[in-house]
Amino acid sequence: MRQVTPPKRLRLAVLASGRGSNFLAIQEASQNGQLQADICLLISDQASAPALERARNLGIKALFIDPKAFPDRDAYESELVRHLQGEGIDFVVLAGYMRLVGRVILKAYQDRVLNIHPALLPSFPGLHAQRQAVEYGVKYSGCTVHFVDQGMDTGPIIRQAVVPVEENDTEDSLAERILVQEHQLYWQVLQLLAEGRVYIEGRKVYIV
Ligand code: GRF
Repeated sequence: MRQVTPPKRLRLAVLASGRGSNFLAIQEASQNGQLQADICLLISDQASAPALERARNLGIKALFIDPKAFPDRDAYESELVRHLQGEGIDFVVLAGYMRLVGRVILKAYQDRVLNIHPALLPSFPGLHAQRQAVEYGVKYSGCTVHFVDQGMDTGPIIRQAVVPVEENDTEDSLAERILVQEHQLYWQVLQLLAEGRVYIEGRKVYIV
């Protein structure tokens, strides 16, 4: 069993493709002292991602890095890693980042890339997790924060929050209630990491 990181104030980078509400929730927890970590960098693969502007408005360095400007994923990710290492980033926090992370980032940041997924993994990985849950008819769904590996939403699970599914739920109504939980769960997991309380063995994660 290995400790993911000893206690320290963490330097975080958020990777986001869209609106960035999870980014904002983490930033708020950092600002109000609940989270001993600083978001030092936001990177987006989408020029029009609202997350970029939200970060800039808060004075956080925000970069659009266009994957299409690189010959392949390795080259694109090498550029990301250059920026991440340049800022001394400890953890890479995926928040609505709509790309699979590949070997270059995972090698540079082994056990240090996190994702949040709006379902109770391993159920409903991939896109439209909330719609999948409603259509399947499960009675409970929720969200999962996990370490990222090369698969799609397959890495070791750190914590989950449960959200009951109501009979009249739509994809949107369920997504809205799950999002409320996401906004608490993500910074809480990051705080556990900052406190040095997260250990990993195989695909099992222990909080001590
Ligand atoms: C969230 O529902 C998250 O679980 C999923 O993508 C969405 C991102 O939302 N991975 P936001 O950009 O953080 O508002």
